Amino acid sequence: MKEPIQPALQSLRVRTVNGLNIEAIRQQFPAFDRHEGDHPVAYFDGPAGSQVPQSVIDAVGHYMAHTNSNCGAPISTSQESDTTLQHAREALADFVGGSDPDEIVFGPNMTTLTLALSRTLGQTWGPGDEVVVTQLDHDANVTPWVLAAQRAGATVHHVPIDLTNCTLDQSAYARLLSPRTKFVAIGYASNAVGTVNPVKQMISAAREMGALTFVDAVHLAPHRLIDVAELQCDFLTCSAYKFFGPHVGVIWGRKDLLEELHPDKLRPSPATGPGKWMTGTANHEGIAGAAAAVNYLSSLGTGNTRRDQLATAFDAIACHENALRRRLLEGLQELTEFRLWGLGLNAPESSRVPTVSVTHTSLSPRDMATRLAHLGLYCWPGNHYAVPFTTAAGLEPDGTLRIGLLHYNTVGEVDRLLAGLRDVDSLV
Ligand SMILES: Cc1ncc(COP(=O)(O)O)c(C=O)c1O
Repeated sequence: MKEPIQPALQSLRVRTVNGLNIEAIRQQFPAFDRHEGDHPVAYFDGPAGSQVPQSVIDAVGHYMAHTNSNCGAPISTSQESDTTLQHAREALADFVGGSDPDEIVFGPNMTTLTLALSRTLGQTWGPGDEVVVTQLDHDANVTPWVLAAQRAGATVHHVPIDLTNCTLDQSAYARLLSPRTKFVAIGYASNAVGTVNPVKQMISAAREMGALTFVDAVHLAPHRLIDVAELQCDFLTCSAYKFFGPHVGVIWGRKDLLEELHPDKLRPSPATGPGKWMTGTANHEGIAGAAAAVNYLSSLGTGNTRRDQLATAFDAIACHENALRRRLLEGLQELTEFRLWGLGLNAPESSRVPTVSVTHTSLSPRDMATRLAHLGLYCWPGNHYAVPFTTAAGLEPDGTLRIGLLHYNTVGEVDRLLAGLRDVDSLV
């Protein structure tokens, strides 16, 4: 995994003795220059897509300006494109804790990759087989498996949510598993309410039944270190545009499974390796940017390997994000017109990422988002495609107002948002 590591000076600049130097970090993001009228924009819309540092923008531009080509020909630009993809696989393998870059498959986004994988895996299911999905997932980790199960004549079980704190009902999960379970799809973290599921235990229980496991880590990826080796899952997915990269989806899969399965593919395309799963010409510039996003994150850490740098970077990110989340939740406690959906202040830090969903006694989430946007406070209204949750919670069709914090947010931005929320019914 030899992708060049950010210069040490860069690392020093973005870290202080106690953690991250957020102001130095923010200077790397051109998006923070944006204003809404007189108000600097504060981005709380990260769960729908994070902002991008200059190094990622440069990587995309560099690819397009200097090495633009298709893969596989004996010409320099093509060979450099092959190298770009190989370096990106190495970077993403480091990012998810994998040991083999050939286990990394790139695609347009998580949804498209998951639909393709579900069609392929579904061919191995039949009547009598059972598939388990959860009510706390984004629909991209539900409907692909439901459709594949329907085609195969397999049965689908849905793990219910405990709506008092928006966690998965673990005893119901245990009851739904049996030797008939062929496949379990679990979300690592909820993009609607921020709950981090006990994925490792859930995978271990599924494995005891002989089931394959698929983890949707899209929402966890910008917040915490992923470690597929520790999780012992069979597949894991994330999307680079949620962790400071471009619009590119990624699936990590166990190599033996990627080799054994038969995805739909064209005759001349590779019959082995990740190329077997990557239909058509890939988004090379986006993939170059995805690798740069991993390198941006590792530049926030310290250590001799990129993986060590990522681990220390995510420790520092978690520390800063937890402080922001506590401040936001403390402030929200005083705003009695709001209802918090999800784990509150007393929840263990490991059980949640700083994605906070609220509803208001009289204003719709869309109305609030529109009013706040005039103050440069960008939040997201709606069901966030987490329809099993919003349906179970009786929140359709309006959903929630989602406040997504990332490491580039500041205490000052959280305080501005709390002030905006306090006055939201008098804003226009
Ligand atoms: C948790 C989660 N899973 C899956 C997806 C779908 O990802 P993509 O947009 O890459 O298809 C999203 C997108 O918001 C998400 O938040």
